[in-house]
Amino acid sequence: MQNHKSAVQRNQALAKKSGEFLIGGDLRVTRLGFGAMRITGDGIWGEPAGRAEAVRVLRRAVELGINFIDTADSYGPGVSEEIIAEALHPYPNGLVIATKGGYVRLGPNQWVENGKPEHLRSACEGSLRRLRLDRIDLYQLHRIDPKVPAEDQLGTLRDLQAQGKIKYIGLSEVSVRQIQHARTIVPIVSVQNRYSVTDRGSEDVLEYCEKEKMGFIPWFPLAAGRVSSSESPISRIAARWKASPSQLALAWLLARSPVILPIPGTSRVEHLEENVAAAELKVDVNKWQELDRMARAS
Ligand SMILES: NC(=O)c1ccc[n+]([C@@H]2O[C@H](COP(=O)([O-])OP(=O)(O)OC[C@H]3O[C@@H](n4cnc5c(N)ncnc54)[C@H](OP(=O)(O)O)[C@@H]3O)[C@@H](O)[C@H]2O)c1
Repeated sequence: MQNHKSAVQRNQALAKKSGEFLIGGDLRVTRLGFGAMRITGDGIWGEPAGRAEAVRVLRRAVELGINFIDTADSYGPGVSEEIIAEALHPYPNGLVIATKGGYVRLGPNQWVENGKPEHLRSACEGSLRRLRLDRIDLYQLHRIDPKVPAEDQLGTLRDLQAQGKIKYIGLSEVSVRQIQHARTIVPIVSVQNRYSVTDRGSEDVLEYCEKEKMGFIPWFPLAAGRVSSSESPISRIAARWKASPSQLALAWLLARSPVILPIPGTSRVEHLEENVAAAELKVDVNKWQELDRMARAS
């Protein structure tokens, strides 16, 4: 597996080996998706260093069988969504693009929540325009803005859904209590929280999603590359299993729960291919437990 090139060449639709999940009960996606935050400039601001490579990454992701892409209006801002449309529009049948609203950007690495209804409405319109879509399959509230009543934020998304601009609604960085409250206002199909083999703070949220058959989309699945480094706590096991640490981290997520939809991000085709090859890596119970123990002890 460390030489993932042969796996990628052997099987053009390799991502499909990660299995499928039905978002909202009817949007069929390959479980291993792609996160499009890293196809922007430093600090998730402005143009990426290599726009042509970013376009290649997206096209290669689809070629390899990925049909679930995560983005947000705030990545760039606008840049990630524009590059997705440039690379992939007109979209192949079955491609699910999930985007988010609820942040405004003031500069590199600066993120300010804005859950005011007028902001969410115009954010959704902007995403529809940049992505060249009539309807967004999965629209996620990037954060519940503590300055605005949750009822107003989720009520706005419910209105956008009723107008046909959004198919399904998801949440991001929330507690179980927040999900339960949100579900009294509008149906929620997915939750996107930070989670990885070395970062297990959202275990209760994952368990809730599993029980309720909601998609759990772990962001930071590779701890932004730290899991992939030779100092990573899982690198020794990975070497023994002839996988790269990134592949092992993704295979661990896929084995952890059938509702997990990992969205590793990269700006490089080489890393994309390495990551997608994780779909073929089977983590049996013994391996899984060993990895689990090592990650918890680190
Ligand atoms: N909901 C939220 O609040 C939230 C927050 C953050 C992110 N997200 C979403 O989650 C997605 C993933 O999160 P993330 O990008 O922060 O973290 P990540 O996927 O854990 O890590 C991405 C980073 O890891 C590096 N990388 C990827 N594959 C690699 C490999 N095989 N070997 C070595 N390095 C590798 C990438 O660098 P290269 O470009 O050099 O490959 C990139 O800098 C984002 O794209 C976004 O869609 C959501």
